[in-house]
Amino acid sequence: MARRRQLYEGKAKILFEGPEPGTLVQYFKDDATAFNAQKKGVITGKGVLNNRISEYLMLRLGEIGIPTHFIRRLNMREQLIREVEIIPLEIVVRNIAAGSLSTRLGIAEGTALPRSIIEYYYKNDQLGDPMVAEEHITAFGWAAPQDLDDIMGLSLRINDFLCGLFLGIGIKLVDFKIEFGRLWENEEMRIVLADEISPDSCRFWDIKTGEKLDKDRFRRDLGKVEEAYQEVARRLGILPEGGPRDLKGPETMQ
Ligand code: TMP
Ligand code: ASP
Repeated sequence: MARRRQLYEGKAKILFEGPEPGTLVQYFKDDATAFNAQKKGVITGKGVLNNRISEYLMLRLGEIGIPTHFIRRLNMREQLIREVEIIPLEIVVRNIAAGSLSTRLGIAEGTALPRSIIEYYYKNDQLGDPMVAEEHITAFGWAAPQDLDDIMGLSLRINDFLCGLFLGIGIKLVDFKIEFGRLWENEEMRIVLADEISPDSCRFWDIKTGEKLDKDRFRRDLGKVEEAYQEVARRLGILPEGGPRDLKGPETMQ
């Protein structure tokens, strides 16, 4: 089989040229980083699980009318996606105080927020993804005011839907990070959900015990990292056939 052209390698994923124009193949790695890649590690099976979890969540969101880049899963570690122009923003939606919000504003982790809060970070590793205001985004042309309205509306709908979905499986959706892209169809531009939604990009707390079921277990050296990712997949009903033993999957499919 011809070797596909690699277009981009990020910290947790690789993008390859897709089989048709306008498509890409998104490959999920087991590599994990934190604190802008100052901390590096491997979470065995993470790529396989995040591929499944992100597929599942994007499909459910698609069903309620959220446009996404997801087309279909190809294999254990790869999914076919639409090629979009990524808007250079990380959109963080928060329901409960945790992480950088708690540190920055001195609000104890676990405090319920009076309402959901949306924050924007400029995607730039060299600068450490600094937080920015709408003013910066529109003044520097990263997104137009209309794009930002769409992004805000979609983000709140995604938050409402995912909060309910996770509540149903005994998980509190504390916060999460999403990214959007521009998709052109004929002359029309649409903003669509891109990247991934997984325990790498969300904070999930067990409702009963408060146990963390996400990447904070890696960031904070809490142990049982693989188990946390598996537990999220298990509760969503999508643990790969054969259970955790199947997680290594084919190492390379190029
Ligand atoms: P924070 O509290 O560290 O700002 O993180 C907020 C949410 O965003 C949390 O669910 C983890 C996610 N996140 C990412 O997906 N990528 C990142 O680089 C960071 C810093 C956070
Ligand atoms: N994206 C962050 C990093 O650069 C990781 C994180 O905290 O999620 O390493």
